[in-house]
Amino acid sequence: MAITTCVFDAYGTLFDVAAAARKAAARPDNFEISKNWAKLANDWRLKQLQYSWLRVITDAHTDFWEVTQNGLDWAMEANGVSDTRLRAELLELYWNLEAYPEVPKMLADLKDAGLQTAILSNGSPDMLEGAVSSAGVGDHLDAVLSVESVGIFKPDRRIYDLVGGHFNCAADEVLFVSSNGWDAAAASGYGFTTAWVNRSGEPMDRLPWTPQHQLTNLVDIPVLARA
Ligand code: LAC
Repeated sequence: MAITTCVFDAYGTLFDVAAAARKAAARPDNFEISKNWAKLANDWRLKQLQYSWLRVITDAHTDFWEVTQNGLDWAMEANGVSDTRLRAELLELYWNLEAYPEVPKMLADLKDAGLQTAILSNGSPDMLEGAVSSAGVGDHLDAVLSVESVGIFKPDRRIYDLVGGHFNCAADEVLFVSSNGWDAAAASGYGFTTAWVNRSGEPMDRLPWTPQHQLTNLVDIPVLARA
């Protein structure tokens, strides 16, 4: 079946999640994280994701903004950072993340080719609205689908169901793109065609499913979608 619909994970896929710590570290007031901002960003991301999975397993859902704050608090403590002003600054930067440089043209090319485009994300609707508007990509997206309409996080199958529910399309018409290996893998298991955007050369996750495509950035997504 030809691809009609391209669906993107948000954080780390369209939006650069490391940008919050990187930008904060570049400010003169924040010498505390000038050397270890990359580790702080990595710890923050890993804990945010672990907490999302733990919330699912324990049937204790809360929204992604709370999980994001919990992950940051753990990462700050682990890295010896306790400044509440810096905490607020990091969260504000996270709310207003920038897109990776290739994103606007890639989305515009998909729309020019007549494809439907969407975000499917753990993010709460207001977080996603903040990121979409600060990155200036709203005009190229037909839908922004948040897990909050179901109240559970990826990779629960009910989240991937949101795509067919919204676009009334079959799973094999969807190209699903994620920088999270586990998300791309689970979406393959669901029946989407998948592309894993592996920007940092991580090993493949050992899971029962494998993403069909592996890329280092999003530039070639329009070519993949039309192939
Ligand atoms: C998201 C996270 C998992 O946007 O990156 O859903």
